[in-house]
Amino acid sequence: MSKQQILSGDLLIFEGDPFMDESEQCVKILSDSALVIEGGLITEIGARDTLLAAHPSADHHAHKGKLICPGFIDAHVHYPQTAMIASWGKRLIDWLNTYTFPEEMRFEDPEYARKISASYLDLTTAHGTTTMASFCTIHTASVEALFSEAHSRGQRVVAGKTCMDRNAPERLQDTAQSAYDDSKALLETWHGVGRLSYAITPRFSPTSTPEQLEAMGALWAENPECLMQTHLSEQMDEIVWMRDLFPDARDYLDTYERFGLLGARGVYGHAIHLEPREIDQLQEHGAALVHCPTSNAFIGSGLFQMAALKARNISVGLATDTGGGSSFSMLRTMAAAYEIAQLSGSVLHAGQLLWLATQGSAQALHLSDKIGALDVGMEADIVVVDLASTPAIAQRYENAAHVWDRIFSTIMMGDDRAIADVWIGGARVTPTSCT
Ligand code: GUN
Ligand code: ZN
Repeated sequence: MSKQQILSGDLLIFEGDPFMDESEQCVKILSDSALVIEGGLITEIGARDTLLAAHPSADHHAHKGKLICPGFIDAHVHYPQTAMIASWGKRLIDWLNTYTFPEEMRFEDPEYARKISASYLDLTTAHGTTTMASFCTIHTASVEALFSEAHSRGQRVVAGKTCMDRNAPERLQDTAQSAYDDSKALLETWHGVGRLSYAITPRFSPTSTPEQLEAMGALWAENPECLMQTHLSEQMDEIVWMRDLFPDARDYLDTYERFGLLGARGVYGHAIHLEPREIDQLQEHGAALVHCPTSNAFIGSGLFQMAALKARNISVGLATDTGGGSSFSMLRTMAAAYEIAQLSGSVLHAGQLLWLATQGSAQALHLSDKIGALDVGMEADIVVVDLASTPAIAQRYENAAHVWDRIFSTIMMGDDRAIADVWIGGARVTPTSCT
């Protein structure tokens, strides 16, 4: 057995869904508390002094006054877009053609895929993100590179080969058959290996023929334990284009639904401009949506209707959408979610924001039995957040009357400088920004 580790500080504990009940009843801060890690899992949670006395030979990592949270879970990213994040001045379709597709072509080279995989996982660890669901490129090497790198770090990652057989440069196109064959081979090699899981990944309906969507639907039906991730109703121009390409479809969701690509393990990114039928179907099938607020602001996509969708009991995760999103930080992403809710006429509590970035994303990815909460038996993916990480935040911290005010100001103003420590699978990973 590995040596016991004790982390002490203020623990973020979930006792319910803060969208269903009072936030402060559902999300609790246990001050002067501690958790014990052994064999990669959280084995005990309790008062700091009690646990230290019960385990005198454990290593103790003291984080007095800091917030100990489940590791952040980024439910929709494109790791191959790491090197072109924050590319200026285009809307979705031109942005894909001008910046994204040329960068994704570079993943033909397995060495480049390995380099960016390592750099992406270093960057996200430094920002406190311990799990992500990533689109790769059409190249199998891009999936192999991310999975190999994550596996060597003991990191829980969901990923899949992005499939496209039209409306993309030739070098970025596969076919219905090769997308099926390559995805199947990758799934058989990687799904369930260590902490990895495979997601069937048609990019979005404009870049797949009906034949390819049908092939992806068949693969999902053969492997129903896998997630299926894609994009849905992100921008109005995209929806007009989709209508042109699928004149018989009732709406955007129907371009997936008719090919077997709507289900409880479906994870749909953006989902901003939904029609009533789409919302009914998403709810009925128990599908999950992913809110990508920095991306939706950056590419000018629109305002995600969080309050209305959560009121329908639809599962919602939170994501950076790297590199359509403008930050690797889930703290910046929570801040953007707050601002977008304000623009939509509702207010999100800090407890709801932290819940979305951890438990909400874990539920959307069907991983909430393993990650996304500090609880006995959960995998020990943990981020320690310094609530006074810069002079500007520290002076606000000093003036805060309540613990939630201190947490909220770090959500609104914090970034990787607020990440004091990170643990993945029970091992301290100490991002370089924390040393
Ligand atoms: N829709 C299809 N592909 C993409 C992508 O790479 N980023 C975003 N934001 N939207 C997409
Ligand atoms: Zn995306």
